[in-house]
Amino acid sequence: MNILTVLGARPQFIKAAAVSQVFLAEGIEEDILHTGQHFDDEMDRVFFDELEIPHPIKNLSAGGGHHGAQTAKMMIGIESFILDSKKKYDRVLVYGDTNSTLAAALVSAKLQIPLAHVEAGLRSHNLAMPEEINRKLTDHVSQFLFCPSDQAVQNLKSEGITDAVYLSGDVMLDALNRFKPKAIQRSLPGELHEEGYYLFTVHRPYNTDQASRLGEILCAIGELPYRVFWPVHPRLKSKLHAFEIPKNVLLSNPVGYLDTLNLLSKSIALITDSGGMQKEAYWMQKNCVTLRSETEWTETLERGWNQLVVNDYKTNIPRALQSKPGEWMPKYGNGQAAKLIAETLK
Ligand code: UD1
Ligand code: UDP
Repeated sequence: MNILTVLGARPQFIKAAAVSQVFLAEGIEEDILHTGQHFDDEMDRVFFDELEIPHPIKNLSAGGGHHGAQTAKMMIGIESFILDSKKKYDRVLVYGDTNSTLAAALVSAKLQIPLAHVEAGLRSHNLAMPEEINRKLTDHVSQFLFCPSDQAVQNLKSEGITDAVYLSGDVMLDALNRFKPKAIQRSLPGELHEEGYYLFTVHRPYNTDQASRLGEILCAIGELPYRVFWPVHPRLKSKLHAFEIPKNVLLSNPVGYLDTLNLLSKSIALITDSGGMQKEAYWMQKNCVTLRSETEWTETLERGWNQLVVNDYKTNIPRALQSKPGEWMPKYGNGQAAKLIAETLK
């Protein structure tokens, strides 16, 4: 069994860290093709180094640019790679909902190589999000659909997809269980020692592409009673100088996965628009404020563990941070998703 995994963005490296080692243990041969969507060392190399992810067989260097150009460049690279390869790939595997996911999905569908989609069935029902387009199209050309939740299975059913749908649980829980014990032994940046702090991340176009919205969010963050640690996503690199950074905010370059888990585990709460981090906060039993109008991870909203805030940030962020969530229940599987995926593909 030869699998070609196509990935390219930060959260996909973390998912691959969980799955690739199980493939190895199960005797599945895997080649990793990196689209190059993320390319800074802090967005790319650090994950391969820290998380023992097999080295990619090739990097297509297709990062940056507008969506159409980026996706097209990836498609050309993926197609050529497969056609030129001496190996015959039995399956193509993709994670999540990025442009790298969609590019590989379209190429493998046209080349008629069965496609496995890990994190299938997620829906925000908001087609203004590029990810919603990517995940819907990918699901509709997939032959193996690995769902993290019952809701994801139901979402696929409501679109007429019922064959080869597997409730695997979330591979990000596998990753968290494996790396958290090591992560929490790390030390925090000195400035964070004394009192508590919030962890803050933001990278969705909805929040980062309108200066007025990001400005309002930063004003609200500046009024919080504790320090705020903010590892800044590179899409904001050239934009941040236009903003006044509040005094309680500690800016950082993006940090690795181990540092992120450590920072989250010791924080008071998370303020984010990240998909993956909403779940990581939930698994670590931290309050989460999600700066979006909806989430595809709807289960995290139950009993108030995660709250959506999309306007009047000065009032709504502190209010959400103060509320006490209800009973915590395990969600998104048992941390053995990768094993089910490997066994199914075999
Ligand atoms: C992408 C995914 C998003 C995912 C996020 C994870 C799509 C449509 N979006 O968003 O679903 O949540 O990754 O972080 O696939 N840049 C750098 N260095 C890097 C990476 C990006 O400078 O290492 C800059 C480039 O200017 C680039 C911009 O950030 O054009 C946006 O990067 P891109 O990968 O297109 O989208 P993300 O916002 O990272
Ligand atoms: N993450 C990281 N460093 C950071 C911010 C996030 O390693 O500076 C990790 C985080 O722990 C999670 C994943 O990256 O596992 C989420 O990626 P991101 O928020 O970029 O994308 P999304 O999940 O929204 O697609």
